[in-house]
Amino acid sequence: RFVSSLSWSQVSVELNPGLTPPSVLPPGVGLVHVRGLGLNDTLHFLLCNAGAPALLVVHTNSTQSAVQVDWPVFINRSSSGSLRVEPQSSVQYSSALVFTRVWEYDDVNNTADPQQTAESSFYPPYELQNFLWTLNISANQSDLTVTLCGGEKTESFLNGSLCLQFSAFESEGRDKAWPSLRHNVNSSQLHVWLDGVTPRGNDSRFALEFQSVGESGFEGRVDVHSSIDDEYTPSIFKVSQWVSSPVNSSSVVGYNQWKPVAYRKPQPVFEDATPCKHSQLVSVNRIPQSGLVQAYFTDDPHTYGLNISFGIDKDPVFYSDSKYISWTVLVGMGEPPADSFSTLIIIIITVGLGTPLAIIIVGGVFVWIRKRMSHSSVYEPIN
Ligand SMILES: *[C@@H]1O[C@H](CO)[C@@H](O)[C@H](O)[C@H]1NC(C)=O
Ligand SMILES: *[C@@H]1O[C@H](CO)[C@@H](O)[C@H](O)[C@H]1NC(C)=O
Ligand SMILES: *[C@@H]1O[C@H](CO)[C@@H](O)[C@H](O)[C@H]1NC(C)=O
Ligand SMILES: *[C@@H]1O[C@H](CO)[C@@H](O)[C@H](O)[C@H]1NC(C)=O
Ligand SMILES: *[C@@H]1O[C@H](CO)[C@@H](O)[C@H](O)[C@H]1NC(C)=O
Ligand SMILES: *[C@@H]1O[C@H](CO)[C@@H](O)[C@H](O)[C@H]1NC(C)=O
Ligand SMILES: *[C@@H]1O[C@H](CO)[C@@H](O)[C@H](O)[C@H]1NC(C)=O
Ligand SMILES: *[C@@H]1O[C@H](CO)[C@@H](O)[C@H](O)[C@H]1NC(C)=O
Ligand SMILES: *[C@@H]1O[C@H](CO)[C@@H](O)[C@H](O)[C@H]1NC(C)=O
Ligand SMILES: *[C@@H]1O[C@H](CO)[C@@H](O)[C@H](O)[C@H]1NC(C)=O
Ligand SMILES: *[C@@H]1O[C@H](CO)[C@@H](O)[C@H](O)[C@H]1NC(C)=O
Repeated sequence: RFVSSLSWSQVSVELNPGLTPPSVLPPGVGLVHVRGLGLNDTLHFLLCNAGAPALLVVHTNSTQSAVQVDWPVFINRSSSGSLRVEPQSSVQYSSALVFTRVWEYDDVNNTADPQQTAESSFYPPYELQNFLWTLNISANQSDLTVTLCGGEKTESFLNGSLCLQFSAFESEGRDKAWPSLRHNVNSSQLHVWLDGVTPRGNDSRFALEFQSVGESGFEGRVDVHSSIDDEYTPSIFKVSQWVSSPVNSSSVVGYNQWKPVAYRKPQPVFEDATPCKHSQLVSVNRIPQSGLVQAYFTDDPHTYGLNISFGIDKDPVFYSDSKYISWTVLVGMGEPPADSFSTLIIIIITVGLGTPLAIIIVGGVFVWIRKRMSHSSVYEPIN
């Protein structure tokens, strides 16, 4: 069941690889496999909404590696090991990002900080593993996107949904839409939005909980880098990176990267941006309830989680005012992409620093000539 054979030379996409009757997935549930072929390696992205939605990244050192699914076992979710990347000896790195919960709290003190909010102000979280989803794939020559939208049968989600849009890339670039994260062939992007959900309180704010599952032998940390340049994401001078490194090594093998900003409109203008912040990484002692993650990880995976909360202290705009919030994260392997100065900025800096320098030099030369000339005029009569 090939959805589309993209004309990209190196990237291909497949829905439910190898699934044949009588095995069937529940309605709205799918497993999307995106394969990027390198010269001597392969990068597999697997996106699945059986249970909590998850994105699994597997990097192999072979161009022949393939995804094998034992569908009856995968569908039954009865045991691990039903999804493998073969040959298993070629796997260099694997890591999964799982969206587990949406937290909602009544921000009566207006701190926009779940950690400063009394537990009694939290509503029961939305468990994404219980959502009902739709899955759409659209692919053309330059874009591959998969959109998952889900909700539950409650009043809050009557007109609302939580959506995740996955994109894979055949080349380096950045989205036109803010936050315009820089991406490359080793990365994929997840754009998440919460649209039209009826909040349970007048001062409701939301936080998104996600977890990362990786093999033992790797450890994670969240770094925040600052920049003096905000040209791609106006007013945002920071980038956060949850990176994964081999134990006792500083080399980065995989990452989740985001900018600390969320937007309150689908096509945001400057005023619709709101800061977001992440909580501390915490170790979670249970593997998340994602069919994909449970099927892939067999021996003692490590799970860590954090919350991204939207809004800022004394922010007068609550969720009920816009009924929309969106946030974007880049998921990939290797070193995370870094923003670099654009040609325009380099010209501005050059002109900005160069002009005073040129004035100083020209001025200095001019003064020196004047001095020489006045000296000569002083000494001339003596000679
Ligand atoms: C890929 O493999 C070929 C031969 O197997 C080798 O010559 C080449 O250096 C490798 N390239 C990289 C980037 O490792
Ligand atoms: C699913 O797993 C259970 C045990 O966990 C087993 O009893 C049942 O027969 C399995 N169903 C299928 C369709 O394989
Ligand atoms: C791939 O990596 C494994 C170890 O992870 C190594 O044994 C194997 O030789 C590597 N294969 C190639 C083609 O580099
Ligand atoms: C509001 O702030 C006060 C004082 O800091 C604190 O005692 C109280 O628990 C907070 N209320 C909520 C709902 O977080
Ligand atoms: C591919 O699809 C995206 C969105 O679906 C659209 O923005 C883009 O223009 C399309 N590209 C081509 C080459 O058709
Ligand atoms: C998926 O496509 C169907 C039919 O085109 C549409 O009704 C549905 O809203 C789409 N869902 C998403 C999540 O885009
Ligand atoms: C959902 O939308 C319909 C029609 O727009 C409206 O009548 C209804 O009140 C909305 N329900 C909620 C819970 O917002
Ligand atoms: C992508 O990953 C491959 C394999 O690790 C590496 O050779 C290549 O330089 C990376 N490309 C970018 C743009 O980071
Ligand atoms: C929300 O605001 C409305 C109107 O301002 C008020 O009637 C209602 O009681 C408030 N609800 C809560 C839960 O505070
Ligand atoms: C990492 O370093 C610590 C202390 O330096 C050492 O005890 C541990 O065995 C090392 N772990 C690995 C996997 O090398
Ligand atoms: C996210 O926030 C909620 C509410 O404060 C908390 O119960 C939960 O443990 C947090 N999750 C993580 C992974 O930190």
